[in-house]
Amino acid sequence: MSDATPEEVMPPVEGPPGWTEGRQEFFRAFHRERRPGLDGPLRTVMFAIETDTGVIGMIRMTLDDDGTAETGMWLARSARGRGLGTEALRTLLDEARAAGARTVRADTTPGNKAALAVLGRTGAALVPDGDKVYARLELDS
Ligand SMILES: CC(C)(COP(=O)(O)OP(=O)(O)OC[C@H]1O[C@@H](n2cnc3c(N)ncnc32)[C@H](O)[C@@H]1OP(=O)(O)O)[C@@H](O)C(=O)NCCC(=O)NCCS
Repeated sequence: MSDATPEEVMPPVEGPPGWTEGRQEFFRAFHRERRPGLDGPLRTVMFAIETDTGVIGMIRMTLDDDGTAETGMWLARSARGRGLGTEALRTLLDEARAAGARTVRADTTPGNKAALAVLGRTGAALVPDGDKVYARLELDS
């Protein structure tokens, strides 16, 4: 995660910019809390995205009772723009289907062209709403 900014990889934490001790601790706690996976209280599984050079990012899935999964992901800067984000999302859709989800949701911002491209290419319907764009993928279509 040192090759990404904190804002790209986790919710905002107050303080000076960069990977401060506080943000590093928050990052660890964020992942530890989700360690129990889909059966845990947060009903979230975090997948490391790995290539032969090691871990290059993370993709998350949270499962709701109504058959909807929610996802978010990040890649290290040096791993972006090579199709790995698209591949990771496609793999996540298979995991969501296997976990019983029928719909996968994600949100991003209108300026995040890479995220919009990945979501669009995976077949998501994109709905802009103010400073957000909401994406929805139907798994049985
Ligand atoms: C979003 C993210 C996961 C995408 O992963 P990626 O591996 O870079 O994506 P891919 O290589 O599969 O595809 C990127 C697509 O976006 C396009 N793209 C990338 N940057 C772009 C830009 N600034 N403007 C327009 N298009 C852009 C690429 O051309 C490519 O499309 P193409 O294959 O049709 O040419 C990655 O960029 C990332 O980690 N960003 C920071 C964290 C983040 O924003 N996460 C998503 C939050 S919703």
